[in-house]
Amino acid sequence: QDLNQPYRTGYHFQPPSNWMNDPNGPMVYKGIYHLFYQYNPYGAVWDVRIVWGHSTSLDLVNWTPQPPAFSPSQPSDINGCWSGSVTILPNGTPVILYTGIDQNKSQVQNVAVPVNISDPYLREWSKSPANPLMAPNAVNGINPDRFRDPTTAWMGHDGEWRVIVGSSTDDRRGLAVLYKSRDFFNWTQATKPLHHEDLTGMWECPDFFPVSITGTDCLETSSFGEVKHVLKVSLIETLHDYYTIGSYDREKDVYVPDHGFVQDGSAPRLDYGKFYASKTFYDDVKKRRILWGWVNESSPAKDDIEKGWSGLQSFPRKIWLGESGNELLQWPIEEIETLRETQVKWDNKVLKAGSTIQVHGVTAAQQADVDVSFKVKDLEKADVIEPSWTDPQKICSEEDLSVKSGLGPFGLMVLTSNDMEEYTSVYFRIFKSNDTKYVVLMCSDQSRSSLNEENDKATFGAFVAIDPSQETLSLRTLIDHSIVESYGGGGKVCITSRVYPKLAIGENTNLFVFNKGTQSVDVLGLNAWSLKSAQINGERVSPFSE
Ligand code: FRU
Repeated sequence: QDLNQPYRTGYHFQPPSNWMNDPNGPMVYKGIYHLFYQYNPYGAVWDVRIVWGHSTSLDLVNWTPQPPAFSPSQPSDINGCWSGSVTILPNGTPVILYTGIDQNKSQVQNVAVPVNISDPYLREWSKSPANPLMAPNAVNGINPDRFRDPTTAWMGHDGEWRVIVGSSTDDRRGLAVLYKSRDFFNWTQATKPLHHEDLTGMWECPDFFPVSITGTDCLETSSFGEVKHVLKVSLIETLHDYYTIGSYDREKDVYVPDHGFVQDGSAPRLDYGKFYASKTFYDDVKKRRILWGWVNESSPAKDDIEKGWSGLQSFPRKIWLGESGNELLQWPIEEIETLRETQVKWDNKVLKAGSTIQVHGVTAAQQADVDVSFKVKDLEKADVIEPSWTDPQKICSEEDLSVKSGLGPFGLMVLTSNDMEEYTSVYFRIFKSNDTKYVVLMCSDQSRSSLNEENDKATFGAFVAIDPSQETLSLRTLIDHSIVESYGGGGKVCITSRVYPKLAIGENTNLFVFNKGTQSVDVLGLNAWSLKSAQINGERVSPFSE
């Protein structure tokens, strides 16, 4: 443990130093996983002239840094190499589409190809002299400041490639602008966007992919058949990633979501905490779709500059369509198990009303994987939810741990200092609604996470669509120094937060299970593992020793 760097992660991806934002172009190529990312090689703050950082891995857990894949160099990207995606062509060659900020500061789409396709590490990339391939112009009416982040392309039934690019109109209509191409280099704009939605503002980092409706198997981006499609957009106005599930009409090239979109606030989020600009890729080695998302800092920029870095990636998550057909499920990829060390296991423990029980034996509670399932017996004791309580984040913010209810709060206290002055709590409350259904609320409360008052310690919350009279309620939390990444209800809801304890560091970090409600709750099972550190891009070079 580097005491000068208590917030660096043990197994969440970060570059050796400096600023990182969006994950870009994740893929697997010749058995090697690649992650590119928006990276500022010169400091711990964002810069418009950002480059494509690059790392490779055999298992998505341990990472080796590679030289940046490319940086601003030609007129079509001289002011920045912004986000984009990889498409694997039918001959197996990976191709990058990315946004360049050109010599006029317009956003345009460019292509880069590997210099040597027999190098599994794909260390060198070359930009096409044909760049830019797509540009705003007088005819297409696209705003040059709002035209970015091309997706992985998919092949239509007619043999033509399709790709979408995020945009918006001046009156805040969000757009997934559609382009088509036969050869991947000459692109023409379709007459209609793939999808649009009024009053949602700029759509950053769209992602569009099929999900199987017949099982948990995942599909390559061009697959079609027994599928639904998912459209994810990152809304710059709220800094959240929203998704809808719907139908893609291949003849008309339009996407129609099954339910409403974000304008009415009803679209689900991939994560209800800090998580943005996410992107999936299809892993054909393990036949799964994997999601990466940028988790930014909650500390002031001066602290980021002092520690010399900013930004993490979420732990990679498998993502698939739940049985209900109307929600996505997410789960940490199984490779996390290779990091597990000491295990603590409880079976059937009663958590009495008002109890707080320490989970002893998780040696470094600052780097752990905790999976707990609860069974709630006396559901009739649940409080009736106030009809005005429609915003889960607001309920979580107003009702902290000191507010008891019939059922809950119960859950985990993580990154807890010895005297409990600092802790982050992740918990549930169960309410009854008038029609005798139950409402399960999940909260991640950072308000007591640090004695440092300068950080953003907002509380997050979400409703979990499960019926506690039929199902057990599970909570899995990945703890890693300054990140707490939680999965509720078997992956129906994710909440990620960033915290910067002053006291709960190193050996002085504790883990508890608690129940502050007025009724007892059963822990059906608890498994907690200390996790060893992964190799994440080598040691950071101290900015002071350079
Ligand atoms: C999202 C984003 C993208 C853009 C990139 C620039 O965080 O703003 O829209 O391409 O970051 O770094």
